[in-house]
Amino acid sequence: MHFELSEEQLMIQQAARDFAQQELKPGVIERDEHQKFPTEQVKKLGELGFLGMMVDPKYNGSGLDAISYVLVMEELSKIDASASVVVSVNNSLVCYGLEAYGTAQQKEKYLKPLASGEKIGAFCLSEPEAGSDATSQRTTAEDKGDYYLLNGTKNWITNGGTASTYLVIAQTHPELRHKGINAFIVEKGMEGFTVGPKENKLGIRGSDTHSLMFNDVKVPKENRIGEDGFGFKFAMKTLEGGRIGIAAQALGIAQGAFELATQYSKERKSFGKPISEHQAIAFKLADMATQIEAARLLVYKAAWLKDQGLPYTQAGSMAKLYASKVAMDVTIEAVQVHGGYGFVKEYHVERLMRDAKITQIYEGTSEIQKMVISREVIR
Ligand code: CAA
Repeated sequence: MHFELSEEQLMIQQAARDFAQQELKPGVIERDEHQKFPTEQVKKLGELGFLGMMVDPKYNGSGLDAISYVLVMEELSKIDASASVVVSVNNSLVCYGLEAYGTAQQKEKYLKPLASGEKIGAFCLSEPEAGSDATSQRTTAEDKGDYYLLNGTKNWITNGGTASTYLVIAQTHPELRHKGINAFIVEKGMEGFTVGPKENKLGIRGSDTHSLMFNDVKVPKENRIGEDGFGFKFAMKTLEGGRIGIAAQALGIAQGAFELATQYSKERKSFGKPISEHQAIAFKLADMATQIEAARLLVYKAAWLKDQGLPYTQAGSMAKLYASKVAMDVTIEAVQVHGGYGFVKEYHVERLMRDAKITQIYEGTSEIQKMVISREVIR
């Protein structure tokens, strides 16, 4: 066992750190305030190869490992979680899903432009009445011979407005419950497919979250992913990797808030000395650092297991459960360390605190992670 990153991983980490400082930090407060999608920044992330990080170079990917991916997610999330969620969804849910389970034709047509960042993808599972209970899909995909007729509504879809390619989960054989579910590749512009208004959110306000409506959308048969009825397993397998990405996002949010709190505590003086020298603050910093380090070990371990081709269901859920809790706890403490300044936007920590909350909700709430972990432990 060793804990060192390789030369290549260190270089990638540095590249992401530089990108976050130079390209994401300027304007991050305004994008949050005005709910502005980081269009230019996402384009540059694609040029850097960060939108198809683990995809084989033959499909325009960067061919990197999952450790490199979590390093990038961590660095970007320290500064701008609205941008990093685009990276997470495109890499873990969309590119991974297509590369692992798509046909050669689907990879050629859809994966290549997604991995290069020329196009952005979205993963569409959640519905008004099927969030955690993902087997209860109300969206239907009726088999009409050479096409499927798609009808229904999806909610809270990240990249909902900006995406061009949507992986949509829908029920084809309701009597078979989860074994009747399919996954489809749907293109923006298909007749009957409309994007609803953008959600006005607590956090990750720069990211683009919409509901989607499908009204008699004809999806060609060759756009189904996997065998008939494979859709639920497809969603579960894809989300397993997604949870590692979101765990890394939570880790980055916590680390970003911790760095700001530490810096501020060394500069701010009260009662004749920097507040970092008051035990009340010093102990907070010690707790934050320890929690973050524990979260980091869980996140890196989950990514490492994935890289080794070993099972990572439990490790990914543990990483997400713990890192998202740490993100919430640490960002609240970071605001507290900043006192009144922490409550105003210019100091960044209030945004990180708001952004942290979603990491306990999307790609499976903390309660869902506990379900997954407890089932694995009992098994
Ligand atoms: N891998 C492979 N198969 C799996 C699996 C996994 N990880 N988890 C479950 N399955 C299979 C089971 O083996 C079972 O198949 P069989 O009947 O053939 O044995 C089938 O799926 C049903 O499994 P369960 O009986 O365990 O299903 P369940 O209804 O009890 O619940 C759940 C499973 C884990 C709770 C699941 O519903 C779940 O993960 N829910 C949360 C969904 C979620 O994460 N939503 C997030 C939306 S996406 C998002 O947020 C993206 C974004 O925009 C950022």
